[in-house]
Amino acid sequence: MSYQKSLKIGLFGYGVVGSAVFEVLTHTPSLQAQIAKICIKDSTKPRNIASDYFTTDKMELLDNEGINVVVEMTDDAEAAIEIVRESLRRGKAVISANKKMVAENLAELVELQQKYGTPLLYESACCASIPVIRNLEEYYDNDLLHGVEGIINGSTNFILTKIFNEKLPYADALKLAQSLGFAESDPSLDVEGQDALNKLCLLLAHAYGIVVHPSKLLCHGIHRLNSIDSEVAAAQGSQIKLVARAMKQPNGEVAAFVLPQFVRPPHLLHNVRNEYNGVVLTSALADEQYFYGKGAGGFPTASAILADLSALRYNYRYEYKKLLLQAPSKLCDDINLQVYVSFQDWQMLPVDAFEEIQEYYSGKLFHYRKGIISLRKLLKSEWWKQPGVSLVLQEVGIAKEIK
Ligand code: HSE
Repeated sequence: MSYQKSLKIGLFGYGVVGSAVFEVLTHTPSLQAQIAKICIKDSTKPRNIASDYFTTDKMELLDNEGINVVVEMTDDAEAAIEIVRESLRRGKAVISANKKMVAENLAELVELQQKYGTPLLYESACCASIPVIRNLEEYYDNDLLHGVEGIINGSTNFILTKIFNEKLPYADALKLAQSLGFAESDPSLDVEGQDALNKLCLLLAHAYGIVVHPSKLLCHGIHRLNSIDSEVAAAQGSQIKLVARAMKQPNGEVAAFVLPQFVRPPHLLHNVRNEYNGVVLTSALADEQYFYGKGAGGFPTASAILADLSALRYNYRYEYKKLLLQAPSKLCDDINLQVYVSFQDWQMLPVDAFEEIQEYYSGKLFHYRKGIISLRKLLKSEWWKQPGVSLVLQEVGIAKEIK
C-alpha cells in the first residue's frame, strides 16, 4: 500500500466504537479513507445512517477487492479471528480494537502478518486514546525498560471512582459505566479483570517480546472487593485501583499480573479517575514516564483507529522488534508479593497461604491479613477466587523490592 493510496474500508461492527469511527471518518476527508460497507450481526436494529451501507454477510466485504482495509470493531473474539485470518490472507490490512481476539491469538497473528506480508494494527485495543503500543514498539527499543504499570481498563476505574469519590453502590456504578458505553458487552470481562489482562498481554509483547496466553497470568478483578477494603484504604490514605503490572526482575525475567492495588499520593495513578487510563513506564535512561488519557468510549477509541489508518497510509506495520529482532524476555513467577487479603470466614484462608504475616485484624463481618504471598503459589491455588475473599496488592513499588 503506497503512501498516496486511498483507503477503502470494510467495517465490522457498528456499536459504540464502529459508529464513532463512521462519524469521525465522515468528517475527516483529509485522511482519504472511505467506508465502503459495514457488516453487522443484527439487521433489524434501527441505525442512524443509510441502510445500503449494511450487510450481514461478511463475504460481501471480504470478497470485495476494492476494500483494502478491514476495520474490525466487533465484541466477538471468535468471529473476529476468522475475519482477521481471512482478511490478512487476502492481503487486506486489518485494524482491530478487539483486545480479547488479539491477546488470545497473538502468536498466530504475528505469524500470519509475516506469512502474508499484511499489517495488523491494534493501538485502539489497549488504553483507547493513549498511544502506548506504538511507543513501546518504537521508542522503547533501546532503553532498558524496568517496568510497565497502568490502569488500563476504563470501566473498572470509572466504577472505583464512583464508589470512592461519590459513594455510589457498586451495582449502580457498573450500570452507569454500561450506559455510557465504557463497559464490554459482557461486563464481567471488565470487573473480573480479564479485559485488563488481555491488554497486558499486548503490552508484554511490545514491551518485552513476551507472547503469552492470558490464561497463564495471575488476574483478580474488582468484583470480590469487600466493604471493609475501602475503609482500610481510606485509613491508610489510599484508593484501590485495578492495576496491570509487568516488572523486570534483576535476572532479566519479567513478572506480570493484574490485581486491585492500594495506591496513594504521590503515585501518578492515584489521580487517574473515571474512564481515564494511566500508564507509567520505568526505564534505565528515561526514568519514569507517564501516559494519561481516556481509556474507553467511542471517540477516544476512534482517535486511535484514526492514528492506525493514517499509519497504514505510510506502510507502517509492527515489527515486533523485541520478539523477532531481539532476544525476548522470559516470564517468571518466582517473586513474592506484599498483599492484603480480606475474607468473611476463617475457613476461606488456607493456613499456609502467607509466607509471612505482618498484620491481622478480626471483626464481626470481616477479617483481614497483610503479609507476603508467593506469586507462584497464588497461580497454583484457587482459594483467593472464592466469593467473600478479596486480594489487594499493597503499595505500588513494594512488590519488586521484596524477593
Ligand atoms: N471495556 C473497556 C474498558 C473498553 O472499560 O476499558 C475499552 O477497551
